[in-house]
Amino acid sequence: MFTLETAATAAYVVAALLFILALAGLSKHETSRAGNTFGIAGMAVALIATIALALARHIEPLGLALLLLAMVIGAAIGLWRAKIVEMTGMPELIALLHSFVGLAAVLVGWNGYLYVEGDPGGSEAAALAGDGMLGIHSAEVVIGVFIGAVTFTGSIVANLKLSARIKSAPMMLPGKNILNVGALVVFTVLTVWFVIDPQLWLLIVVTVLALLLGWHLVASIGGGDMPVVVSMLNSYSGWAAAASGFLLGNDLLIITGALVGSSGAYLSYIMCKAMNRSFLSVIAGGFGMESPGAGADVDYGEHREINAEGVAELLSSASSVIITPGYGMAVAQAQYGVADLTRKLRERGVNVRFGIHPVAGRLPGHMNVLLAEAKVPYDIVLEMDEINDDFADTDVVLVIGANDTVNPAASEDPGSPIAGMPVLTVWNANNVIVFKRSMASGYAGVQNPLFFRENTQMLFGDAKDRVDAINAALSVAEKV
Ligand code: TAP
Repeated sequence: MFTLETAATAAYVVAALLFILALAGLSKHETSRAGNTFGIAGMAVALIATIALALARHIEPLGLALLLLAMVIGAAIGLWRAKIVEMTGMPELIALLHSFVGLAAVLVGWNGYLYVEGDPGGSEAAALAGDGMLGIHSAEVVIGVFIGAVTFTGSIVANLKLSARIKSAPMMLPGKNILNVGALVVFTVLTVWFVIDPQLWLLIVVTVLALLLGWHLVASIGGGDMPVVVSMLNSYSGWAAAASGFLLGNDLLIITGALVGSSGAYLSYIMCKAMNRSFLSVIAGGFGMESPGAGADVDYGEHREINAEGVAELLSSASSVIITPGYGMAVAQAQYGVADLTRKLRERGVNVRFGIHPVAGRLPGHMNVLLAEAKVPYDIVLEMDEINDDFADTDVVLVIGANDTVNPAASEDPGSPIAGMPVLTVWNANNVIVFKRSMASGYAGVQNPLFFRENTQMLFGDAKDRVDAINAALSVAEKV
């Protein structure tokens, strides 16, 4: 028989499919817009179906009013934040959103406890006990609360570090790895105990333990590893949502949580590979613990400077150019000028391509999004692995606001704090122009010997101003 309940279940299947299509779409530039649309549609279907399900289960008017009120407030805050957030502020916003998922999982877990284990004479507990499912329910409660609480405090610390409200250097408590592993062992013991005898104090201890573990885990990780931490927390938030799905008996939440959990884990893996880090060493912390400016004591010699007109001249006689953008291009919002420059050079027959490092900027795909926004053609935007062998045959490389991702010390100096991180080998080109405002180090706080190479010239100033000045100089040259 067709009921509101069966319609809602069918809608959940449609929403799950839309989420899978969203993930598939988001994996490529060309299909990312469609992927986003699938995600929005899936979430809309899921929300409507959830309300329909609540109505089918005869939700009380007060409950319905609260549900709608929460949705309206949440949607209003979400729209407002999404409108005002700068691209560079995305990672910290994402970290904050993960903390909400973690908190929701903790609240769902506690709610499950209060309705079932905390009310042994109640109908819910009796029904579960009758089916022999009480132990499973208790396990779901304690695991959901644990993952949720770790995600909650971990994400808050990540947000505070990324927004520079606390220091990004790792907190180094003595025996920090033993503390982490010890907390996991205690959690396992308490989980077994809770399943056998679900007492309130055990759940309180697990909650506090997990809150402290989440805080300590992320506080111990240095700034350089923050991108991996954010995607790791993304994964945790997915598993926390899946745990809530089990507790609430909501299949869609289980599927969505598993999709987020596994895609976040895979993204962490890809990023670890891009930074040549093992996942365990990221969790154990360490990278980014060097003091800012490490390597600054080494005397690399003198650097050379160039002005915008000089760069325009160099570009006029070049036949191949590679642009490697980084965080500074995002800060300066130079992508439109860069797109203009690209168009101008291509019109003159210059082979212009982009080399994108997997962790350039401050979030995965940061540079790709900016370049797409400025309408740079997708087919000339290449990944690091696709372009690294081509630098040797390139006349000019424009390093626009990038630093760590083009640091030769990563591949040449085993003692460097970023040793082993694969980088764009820009120094192999005939000429390298570095756009930045000063000789300051990049995100990892490591000095960059590239700036002192013989084939490198520094173009100081705000990246947008400098790119605009080059464009102006090229236009003047065209008219002459
Ligand atoms: P960074 O190493 O962060 O260097 C950016 C450079 O841009 C700085 O040296 C800065 O020098 C310059 N800059 C800043 N504002 C500028 C402006 N307005 N105009 C011109 N230059 C400007 O950049 P990167 O090469 O993109 O490397 C990214 C780093 O961030 C890596 O260490 C990565 O691990 C880390 N990280 C990445 C992510 C993800 S997922 N992408 C997330 C968090 C952290 P001046 O101050 O001298 O101008």
